[in-house]
Amino acid sequence: MSFDLVVKGGKIVLPEKTFIADIGIKDGKIVSIKKEIKSNGAQALDAKGLLVMPGALDVHVHLQLPFCGTVSCDDFENGTKAAACGGVTTVVDFAIQKKGDSLAKAVEDRKKEADGKVAVDYSLHGGITDWNEKTRQEMNDLVKDGITSFKMFMIYRSQGWMADDGILFQGLEETAKNGAIITVHAESAYVLDLLIERYHTKEMMEKYGAYLHTLTRPCVTEYEAVRRAATWAKVTGGRLYIVHMSTSEAAQVVKEAKADGVRIWAETCPQYLLLTDDVFKNKETGHLYGTCPQIKKKHDQVGLWEGLKKGYVDVVATDTCTFNTQQKAMWQGDFTKIPFGMPGVETMVPTIYTSGVASGRIKPSRFVELVATNPAKIFGLYPQKGTIRVGSDADIMLFDTTKKVTLSYKNLQTNCDWSPFEGMKLKGYPAVTISRGKIVAKDGKFVGSVGHGRFVKRKPWGKV
Ligand code: URP
Ligand code: ZN
Ligand code: ZN
Repeated sequence: MSFDLVVKGGKIVLPEKTFIADIGIKDGKIVSIKKEIKSNGAQALDAKGLLVMPGALDVHVHLQLPFCGTVSCDDFENGTKAAACGGVTTVVDFAIQKKGDSLAKAVEDRKKEADGKVAVDYSLHGGITDWNEKTRQEMNDLVKDGITSFKMFMIYRSQGWMADDGILFQGLEETAKNGAIITVHAESAYVLDLLIERYHTKEMMEKYGAYLHTLTRPCVTEYEAVRRAATWAKVTGGRLYIVHMSTSEAAQVVKEAKADGVRIWAETCPQYLLLTDDVFKNKETGHLYGTCPQIKKKHDQVGLWEGLKKGYVDVVATDTCTFNTQQKAMWQGDFTKIPFGMPGVETMVPTIYTSGVASGRIKPSRFVELVATNPAKIFGLYPQKGTIRVGSDADIMLFDTTKKVTLSYKNLQTNCDWSPFEGMKLKGYPAVTISRGKIVAKDGKFVGSVGHGRFVKRKPWGKV
């Protein structure tokens, strides 16, 4: 058998088993996994002493997103280079429909922006902002074309993105028939808007600054919306995925709903697992952390980690939406004008490995499940991606658990001039990232080629 690349002697970590073996790769696919493979002249990569894991999937990124009066500053090219540097071999971005316009066109336009630019594979969630009979039909057609998830926002009324309960209900009804999944941004729009208006005064802004972001988005606003969405999923038999879940209370709702047979899955993000809303108290830097939903409390961190460990929180993804300090400065002291979002795709793997595995909270096998296998399963990419087996894409991350790194934005590929995790002492770092058989990053530096990434079609009825 001939190979293009052989990964030799690493410890392969999968949810179901951990074992030492060689991996033979040909034409972008894994073609052999054996105790010993002779490279027969092919490039051999020594992985002894390293963990060999499936490349991570970050199923929640917003690259070059026009949002909050600016455009997120990691574009498809640099954002996917950053992904590669961080051990991420697939990203899923969003094609958000314009009001009065077609959902299919939004997908087509977004593909044009990404194709030829991406350095690792990508897919898109359809973003539904204008529900009508045509959109419903387009949704069904897109499922056949490999787009099997659709985002609905329960907030962003003023941007014209909000889906009300009737729309969410109908979207979920559709998924019970077509096997797609509704991914939902769950917060209570009307209460949020009321609180924002109430606190949006000169006196309050002088007194609390960016901390008003916390005061206007209490945990109950997420809890209430997740409960409501879960209720609609239950009665419709629809398939629901909660994105960027930030509270312990919401995690409990998901736990109960799963026990009740509801087809519900949930994602959380590093910012909710590693930071608390104390960050907003810093007068100089608090506004940088403005994201939506905002960062919550210590007890939320504890509850979310518990969910990841016990199995009712299914995925870690990042909600990457990079705004640099210049863009963030647009807030000028007004919390309603902060561009919402932060960098993250490049740092998900090492930060979650450090705080999850190295700290003893979760096992390496669970880590693989959370960042690779579960997102691949839920979003219809398994076993093409999210695992290491013969026939799968050769998307592989070699991870060095002995590497100690102090995280600094200065060493990252992202276009961002700050990091929410600046100074974090990392216990382990991706050593090599392989995307469809090509080495695309080494020791955190991009060595791949722009345009190597492809759009990947997904299947419906994904689940874990
Ligand atoms: O603040 C964030 N997360 N920006 C991106 C849009 C969203 O709500 O996911
Ligand atoms: Zn959101
Ligand atoms: Zn998002």
